[in-house]
Amino acid sequence: MPRQHITSRKIAEHVQRLGELYPPIPLDSVDRTISRPHLVAERYGHVIDYLARVELEVDRNVLELLVLLPDVDDTNKTFYADVWHPQEIQHGLILDRLQQDLGRAPATPQLDVSFRIKVLGTLAGLKPIQDIARLLYFLTGASTERQAVLAYNRINNGMKRLGETAISETIIKPIKQQEPGHFAFYQMSATAMIQDKILRPWQLFLARVLRERTYHLVGTNARDTYKADLGAVIADLGVDADLEGFAREVGRVESRLLWAHRHGLDFPPYILTALRECVDLYRERLSRRLAVTT
Ligand SMILES: [Fe+2]
Ligand SMILES: [Fe+2]
Repeated sequence: MPRQHITSRKIAEHVQRLGELYPPIPLDSVDRTISRPHLVAERYGHVIDYLARVELEVDRNVLELLVLLPDVDDTNKTFYADVWHPQEIQHGLILDRLQQDLGRAPATPQLDVSFRIKVLGTLAGLKPIQDIARLLYFLTGASTERQAVLAYNRINNGMKRLGETAISETIIKPIKQQEPGHFAFYQMSATAMIQDKILRPWQLFLARVLRERTYHLVGTNARDTYKADLGAVIADLGVDADLEGFAREVGRVESRLLWAHRHGLDFPPYILTALRECVDLYRERLSRRLAVTT
């Protein structure tokens, strides 16, 4: 637990600062020079496809937020309406154009709110349930934004290695600069809820059970095909060499906030399980394809 107390004022100031520091990236600020499109597509095509889709799904994320948390406060409203959504949608549009510049198909984001979220939304009409949903929403935000930060760092290094300076300097770097602020918002918001003891023990217990049962990695939308796609991204970015290290990075916030009583727990096991499932589904897909072609 950090020593500094996180007040709602501090969170509001953070949101205001993000809005001032990082206006949405204009499409025409991008230098569309690609030195070796075939090579970039071969190495990172799938990764760009995946990220473009996930960034464009921010439209659905906002709808989910409104279903789950109908009573969000002004700071949350300002964050998603004035900062987060406008920034993420530009990330999506810029990456979607890049993937098409690389000769790949445009992204097909999934924009329907799932049945599961709608059911949860009905329950969230009850205040004690809404507080649980709010904590889970912040934890999900922290986890997915952290995954984004780690992925963009790796892609940026890859683009630099390939000598694709325009992609690195005018696409990945500006996007990469905006993700840590999102992470910080969710991290601060979740921490404040725990520090202020908003949840009673039974609510925290339920939050842990739900988190374990419903945890999903960024953009997998509870579908095996997306999980296999993410497995491909994990392999392309070399994350599979140290899945535990990645789980530790991604799970740090929830280890501290939800599982502090389990001493010595490096990261919640469900994160590593989810990562392994993606890698396994990707490998199965590869071997099925090999079986067809041989
Ligand atoms: Fe983003
Ligand atoms: Fe983000």
